[in-house]
Amino acid sequence: MPSDTRLAQITDRLTPDLVALRKQLHQHPELAFEEHETAKAVTAFLGKHKIAARTGIGKTGVIAMVEGAKPGPTIGIRADMDALPIHEQTGLPFASKVAGKMHACGHDVHTVIALGAAVALAEMRDSLHGKVKFIFQPAEETLSGARAMIADGALDDPKMDLILGYHNWPAVPAGKVGYNAEAVMSSADAFDVVLKGRDGHGAHPHLAVDALAAGAYFVSQLQTIVSREVKPLSPAVVTVGEFHAGTARNVIAGTAHLKGIVRTMEAGLSEKIEAAMRRMLEGMKLGMRIDYELKWDRVAPALRNNKDVLAKLLSSARNELGADNVLELPEPSMGSEDFAWFAEKVPAAHLRIGSKIDGLDTAIHRANYDCNELAIPIGVRVVARAALDLASSSA
Ligand code: NI
Repeated sequence: MPSDTRLAQITDRLTPDLVALRKQLHQHPELAFEEHETAKAVTAFLGKHKIAARTGIGKTGVIAMVEGAKPGPTIGIRADMDALPIHEQTGLPFASKVAGKMHACGHDVHTVIALGAAVALAEMRDSLHGKVKFIFQPAEETLSGARAMIADGALDDPKMDLILGYHNWPAVPAGKVGYNAEAVMSSADAFDVVLKGRDGHGAHPHLAVDALAAGAYFVSQLQTIVSREVKPLSPAVVTVGEFHAGTARNVIAGTAHLKGIVRTMEAGLSEKIEAAMRRMLEGMKLGMRIDYELKWDRVAPALRNNKDVLAKLLSSARNELGADNVLELPEPSMGSEDFAWFAEKVPAAHLRIGSKIDGLDTAIHRANYDCNELAIPIGVRVVARAALDLASSSA
């Protein structure tokens, strides 16, 4: 039997089990680093198909290896497993049974796609070169699981030659996949600022140092970073989402607390924005007698595709699904994805798997979100085909 139809046939046979497992995971969503039952379900499914797995990597992460019959490189495939703190309002028969928690980003679907690909590749070991390393990652929604797994050695033993990631995408019709030619998702940085003045009576400003007035000035001044310091063709966002100061109308606030986020696409730009913010704070020290603390967390770098890996992934996708079903997306997303930490260390490509449900007006991270189940067999076939092709072409 030609391997082309063999993969599709194996996928067809596995799909009912994968759909059932997805519904089970959907009913029992677990938040970041709490994916204990999800990890058990993953290892149980792999175990049933005689695929060994290591658990407890990055707290609740799981790594499984499928070894081909022929020598070759090691390909990574990463799936995320966590849910969101959203109260589900879909009315689906398999809706979340946990109040306030929901798989509103389809990571339940991502998990079973990787499981299906692992089982399909294990069955096709005879035509598989090298090894495929499946990374079931916790805590993507908090952009912290990838770093936790990497800190626990997920990049080693064996090292990967390249890695693939994917996400379901309700803007892409089911049965199709989408891609971005280069930039996929933005970087994510988080900043905390404390402005420190001196409290005092509202009627005696000359005896105080007003942290609230300084904070208001600071928020305005920040607007000039993107508009005056960043190249107009380079996307960037600086948002202050929290500003707390003051306790009473006649008391001058001695401190102000601000929190915000920065998003960029270009390498090195978030560092430049951090430096600009620090320079403005230093200016306020002199100009407004305000002391400050700035805490900066580089949560995730921007996600960019490696050109060679993407070209090979697309060629596999076109062979598996037909060229009409592989779409270039019009623009990258200003959302972030911590798969970018893997992509920083290993040549990577990322695919969007169409999950649109006709007639359902929704998006990821909404309480009415649902994922088209056709994304499951499509995802299994594309990911497994790419692993088969990439391993033999890189060998
Ligand atoms: Ni997601």
